[in-house]
Amino acid sequence: MSAEPLEIYLEEQDLGRALRDDVRAGLTADPKWLPPKWFYDARGSELFEEITRLPEYYPTRAERAVLAAHAPDIAAVTGAKTLVELGSGSSEKTRLLLDAFTRRGGLGTFVPLDVSVSALRQSTDRIAADYPGLRVRGIVGDFTRHLDRMPTGGRRLVVFLGGTIGNLLPEERAGFLAAMRNGLETGDWLLVGTDLVKDPGVVVPAYDDAAGVTAEFNRNVLRVVNRELGADFDPEAFEHVALWDPEREWIEMRLRARRPQRVRVLDLVVDFATGEDLRTEVSAKFRPTGIAAELTGAGFVAEHFWTDPKGLFGVTLARAA
Ligand code: SAH
Ligand code: AVI
Repeated sequence: MSAEPLEIYLEEQDLGRALRDDVRAGLTADPKWLPPKWFYDARGSELFEEITRLPEYYPTRAERAVLAAHAPDIAAVTGAKTLVELGSGSSEKTRLLLDAFTRRGGLGTFVPLDVSVSALRQSTDRIAADYPGLRVRGIVGDFTRHLDRMPTGGRRLVVFLGGTIGNLLPEERAGFLAAMRNGLETGDWLLVGTDLVKDPGVVVPAYDDAAGVTAEFNRNVLRVVNRELGADFDPEAFEHVALWDPEREWIEMRLRARRPQRVRVLDLVVDFATGEDLRTEVSAKFRPTGIAAELTGAGFVAEHFWTDPKGLFGVTLARAA
């Protein structure tokens, strides 16, 4: 079966408006910030895939190990008919789940949702070709806004992999989990991947790799703002910074001005002093008790928690209570 045409919850003009609003809010704030969803144009999605193959970037390999070991359990416990994936990207690891569901039988529909049209187009074409008989419905959408429109169709399993939940700020995360619970029926399932708290000596290099791929990924947000809003950022005038925050147990990516600069974007004139930072991402790391508590608070019961053999990354399977 070929993939169905992408369903569009986010039109070009919605994306444009959302980017303008975020740029206006973030670049007039002190300290300055931009939300991480704007990394992912076609180039940004490719750079992320390159990051997942870097020797320093352990989360993808660790999460893959968990899924390889437990995909059959996940298929058996949930018995899902519909698999929804949020922030699906290439859906490469998700194939382990699709394989397990295929062996078990019963899964009818796969629904990847992502803001990145290019990533979605590629992944839906490939998955439809490799899993004949599976209905593949790609959705261009924003998982912070469109959970009330999650497709129905028998018992659902929603998967949110990669640790992307950690890219939401704590208050956004609470809102996200509440909206997720609202969008599900009692008895539906949520599978969520979370990077775990560990030695900063392991975390920091994963976000500041020797080959400089993460630095390029980070600067890509400036290229997106230049192209989409006609801004005049000089990406090379910003240094990539990865900073561990021991209190909040998250890593921040920032772009630090190498020299004083003035950027024009929309009707704004934005000045950066030498050394001034623009925060582009937080990536929270979790403790098992914290994850379970957040899920419980949102109306889920965490039924299973698995990690890879090195204990780097956790995957929780929770039931909507
Ligand atoms: N799940 C994949 C990809 C993770 S990268 C993995 O585990 O490897 C994060 C993905 O989430 C990207 O594909 C990006 O385009 C998407 N994304 C980021 N913010 C989003 C948002 N607000 N709504 C929908 N997708 C988003
Ligand atoms: C998508 N997300 C979980 C990645 C992360 O690790 O927070 C994005 C990323 N940022 C830098 N490298 C990878």
